Amino acid sequence: MDIKNNILETIGKTPLIRLNKITAGLPCEVLAKVDYFNPGNSIKDRMAVKMVEVAEQEGKLKPGGTIIECTSGNTGMGLALAAIVKGYKCIFTTTDKQSKEKIDILKAVGAEVIVCPTNVEPEDPRSYYSVARRLAKEIPNSFHANQYDNLANRLAHYESTGPELWEQTEGKITHLVCTAGTGGTITGTAMFLKEKNPNIQVWAIDVYGSLLTKYFKTGTIDMNEVHPYISEGFGEDFVPENYNMSVIDHFEQVTDIKDHDKYNCKEINYCNSYSDNPFPVRPNLHLKIK
Ligand SMILES: Cc1ncc(COP(=O)(O)O)c(C=O)c1O
Repeated sequence: MDIKNNILETIGKTPLIRLNKITAGLPCEVLAKVDYFNPGNSIKDRMAVKMVEVAEQEGKLKPGGTIIECTSGNTGMGLALAAIVKGYKCIFTTTDKQSKEKIDILKAVGAEVIVCPTNVEPEDPRSYYSVARRLAKEIPNSFHANQYDNLANRLAHYESTGPELWEQTEGKITHLVCTAGTGGTITGTAMFLKEKNPNIQVWAIDVYGSLLTKYFKTGTIDMNEVHPYISEGFGEDFVPENYNMSVIDHFEQVTDIKDHDKYNCKEINYCNSYSDNPFPVRPNLHLKIK
């Protein structure tokens, strides 16, 4: 019999799907790893469960405990699934730019959600980072997952996303193009792939309003780069510990402009989760691959 013992066992092994239309004319094959096939609808399920498992092994998360996290929604969904299966409570802080649907669905799976202002610096006591940190100090038997600096995040991708891409392409992958937020996905996946083949090019997709691209190019943290943006989940206003910039070859910034029609985004949209961001990456890909 082929029976999963619980929903967490369905995470990963997501399909790799050929893009046909948006990539027409490119001198290469472009494939999308469609991680909204995960039960929580995003790639974040992988690292959420890993953070919980590592915290349990290290004794940081104990039976009946409360998982606290600041999340744009997707990590929260993965953590909430793990909490249901393993019997924890969840409190999430998020920002006021997240969609109501995401907040509603986190509440529907049992999480308490605290909405914080977007337009404040990370160290501001009102920011969603600061509120999560404060709650973790105040609430007994709580565990602050801290996806930004918790290296279990990138470990999840080193152990699953990287090997899956390698196997699904039979080692033929030449480029990894990946959004960069906490850095867990791109760093963990790239660390695995570059161990297999150091010639694989790794390109990070960042957003205007984030300081990551300038940091990558100059090594300076320039708060003048930071301004609010609409895109969800990628870009940062600080450099999380999960980054290992040495495995990344290039950073490209994209805008918030949603020119779907221009880039035939019907095809992009079916390869994106409801929560992902269609970004106009095609012209840049075209230039670089030529
Ligand atoms: C759907 C989605 N994709 C990509 C990212 C960025 O990935 P990472 O945080 O691993 O850099 C996020 C981050 O929240 C996300 O929610």
